[in-house]
Amino acid sequence: MLSRYISKSVGQVSTVAKRYSSIISVHRDTTEDNQNIPFEFNSENLKRAQEIIAKYPPQYKKGACMPLLDLGQRQLGFTSISVMNYVAKMLDMPPMRVYEVATFYTMYNRKPMGKYNLQVCTTTPCQLCGSDGIMKAVRDHLQIKPGQTTPDKLFTLQEVECLGACVNAPMIAINDDYYEDLTPEATVDLLKQLQAGKELTKIGPVLNKRESCEPFSGPKVLLGKEPTDIRKFTRADL
Ligand code: FES
Repeated sequence: MLSRYISKSVGQVSTVAKRYSSIISVHRDTTEDNQNIPFEFNSENLKRAQEIIAKYPPQYKKGACMPLLDLGQRQLGFTSISVMNYVAKMLDMPPMRVYEVATFYTMYNRKPMGKYNLQVCTTTPCQLCGSDGIMKAVRDHLQIKPGQTTPDKLFTLQEVECLGACVNAPMIAINDDYYEDLTPEATVDLLKQLQAGKELTKIGPVLNKRESCEPFSGPKVLLGKEPTDIRKFTRADL
């Protein structure tokens, strides 16, 4: 209705390139991902898994499905069919129920990933702040499209929906960390640092002086209080 109104009154229709998800929901056997490749948790993750399962009443232990899939993904590098089957067995679930979870949530990567998972957010707030330029800069610099991995297996590129950091748009996630307030040049600079084998030490806003998501003109609330360091409450490897 709105688009018809626009075309009538303006006399033209806006055209935007169609975008398609690079993720397919069905499993296809490959040499790297098939049911004959064994998987089991290492001793550290097995202990973690048991701690997670213990949080649920025995009849509801399937509630641990998502954190266990995440553990498996972190151990192997992606959520293979063997990871899913292993989790299903551990939780006494029909494998199909686990496949349903793993294929619904796009944070489960179901094919081998590069060392760095680059997720470029292109949802409206990021797009209005220049995410098209960020995506183009990444594609041009790495010479890959969303869904592809660089030949050196360093980067996998994904186009994703809102990652919840809109107030610091445009932004990208690299593995578990967010890099915000970006320009195309600053994004390429991050990639170059990783290609040179350096660690990115500063997460959050890259270009601006703000610490977090406070206004550009400075914080207006909680003045004089030290912000809570969330890392005190999370696992050391997150
Ligand atoms: S729109 Fe990009 S983080 Fe929300």
